[in-house]
Amino acid sequence: MTNTKTVVVLGATGQQGGSVAAALRADGWAVRAVVRDPSGHRARSLSAAGVETVRGDLGNPQSLRVAFSDAYGVFSVQPNSGQAGAEVTNEDEVRFGTLVADIAERCGVAHLVYSSAITAGSTTGVGHLDTKNRVEAHIRKLDIADTIIRPTTFMELLLTPEMGLDQGHLSFLMRPDQSMQFIAVRDIGRIVAAVFGSPRRYVGRTMEIAGDALTGNALAEHLTQAVGQPISYSRLPTQDEFLGKLAALVDDGRLAGNANLDTLRAEFPSLLRFDRWLAGPGASLLDAALRSTDTGITGH
Ligand SMILES: NC(=O)c1ccc[n+]([C@@H]2O[C@H](COP(=O)([O-])OP(=O)(O)OC[C@H]3O[C@@H](n4cnc5c(N)ncnc54)[C@H](OP(=O)(O)O)[C@@H]3O)[C@@H](O)[C@H]2O)c1
Repeated sequence: MTNTKTVVVLGATGQQGGSVAAALRADGWAVRAVVRDPSGHRARSLSAAGVETVRGDLGNPQSLRVAFSDAYGVFSVQPNSGQAGAEVTNEDEVRFGTLVADIAERCGVAHLVYSSAITAGSTTGVGHLDTKNRVEAHIRKLDIADTIIRPTTFMELLLTPEMGLDQGHLSFLMRPDQSMQFIAVRDIGRIVAAVFGSPRRYVGRTMEIAGDALTGNALAEHLTQAVGQPISYSRLPTQDEFLGKLAALVDDGRLAGNANLDTLRAEFPSLLRFDRWLAGPGASLLDAALRSTDTGITGH
């Protein structure tokens, strides 16, 4: 397929935006990435892959106006906010998300796709999750055709060094016998490209997206198989205030994920289950996690 319409991708040097830019290019779209540093190595990789890079910043409205001026679509994702190590506050995230939507509306963008979180249907008391609720509410008030995707937890997050794999152990938010849904970042891009490709089907929809559902024990079994050595599983310490809040949201179902996997797999047949992801896009991350090297993966 070739498509001369331009989609502007925010966060293209990061996980979701990078996946979206790659999938849109693969589908033949012209892709324009708004980057803070066009000379950085990730921006240069995007250019090498045929993505137009323009200098811009989520905090600089004029740079967004210029980038969006003749665009058909905008993919909006905001950086991790409020947590340890985050560059921006929760209020910054809301400001960025609403600004992107406002400017997209004013520039006459035909289709805005906003990446939210699965908890966004309710208030959770967790700052970086409730930000998405507020941005979604703002988008719904605007006169713009939109699709909201709510990705479940990224499979990539399981392989961050602090999860303990180099010690033969994995810790995460669910109990060993409790199921939680996950998605490969690669699949977020493929779904978003499909959304831009079929606006009649997807405009106006809010979609929770996942590729697999796994208990802690099932994660350990898949990892044991992939590594060839026993990997055990336990829940992260819920006495920690932040982790405790997230674990409570898993317990009440809001962070565990409620996507309909059968429907999604029928709609997007290439969705990766965890074992396939481990053997494919996740293989290098698994290798790094076993050696406990920094993978550069951030946030929930
Ligand atoms: N991890 C999960 O399981 C999960 C699940 C659902 C939703 N989320 C949400 O996903 C979002 C993060 O997405 P991600 O993981 O794809 O992000 P990421 O990999 O951390 O990348 C962040 C991107 O934002 C760009 N950026 C940061 N500040 C900017 C600014 N002021 N102006 C323009 N661009 C800026 C960064 O560009 P530079 O290269 O210039 O730094 C980078 O491209 C968060 O809102 C998080 O809550 C995460």
